[in-house]
Amino acid sequence: MTALLNLGVLISGSGSNLQSIIDHIEKGKLKAEIKIVISSNPEALGVKKAKNHSVPVAVLDSGKFASREEFDSEMARILKEKKVNLVILAGFMRILTPGFLKSFPGRIMNIHPALLPSFPGLHGQKQAFEYGVKFSGCTVHFVDEGVDTGPIIIQGVVPCYDDDTEDSLSQRILKEEHRIYPQAIQLFAEGRLQIEGRKVRVTHAGEKSIPEIHNPPLFGF
Ligand code: GRF
Repeated sequence: MTALLNLGVLISGSGSNLQSIIDHIEKGKLKAEIKIVISSNPEALGVKKAKNHSVPVAVLDSGKFASREEFDSEMARILKEKKVNLVILAGFMRILTPGFLKSFPGRIMNIHPALLPSFPGLHGQKQAFEYGVKFSGCTVHFVDEGVDTGPIIIQGVVPCYDDDTEDSLSQRILKEEHRIYPQAIQLFAEGRLQIEGRKVRVTHAGEKSIPEIHNPPLFGF
């Protein structure tokens, strides 16, 4: 039997993606184990969610560290101690230092609530909503030195309707996040992701049968 993938999940907030990862593990769909959740925020709802499922949690208070480097090196120390092979950013509201990135080359994933490279940075859903796009979605990518710039693993697309609000669009995107993040992790666990420059090749990704989509729908054109 192959060993389970050891995950370290970094959070700062509500932890709904963390919850989805936990649920997929518990259902046996995601062959991984969360060795540690690290929260940069002691009040994060995600801390409770982890504890509810007996997942070990470390809370690191940024006020107690002299620099970003010190904070990140403590995180790296904990993750290494727990033998983490893949670091999952799930609403982690800090930019990682180059030193941290070097500790986990090609082994850090993030999820962003927009179709990158559009609308990177904070409030991707709001940016897309205000821009007036007809589709938005979410992106799981490997993390590099930039903000939301790393090689893309999977994207989920959702429509934006005329009567949407920022909130209704955000909810629709979040629902897709909860599907694509566990799948991206499972692809990694199966060794099916190869980073080649900017591209991530997914082995045995399935039939090339994804239909073109239009919003509003085409009527006979
Ligand atoms: C999600 O919208 C994710 O795309 C972004 O931060 C949010 C985290 O939400 N990176 P949650 O804490 O997983 O509920």
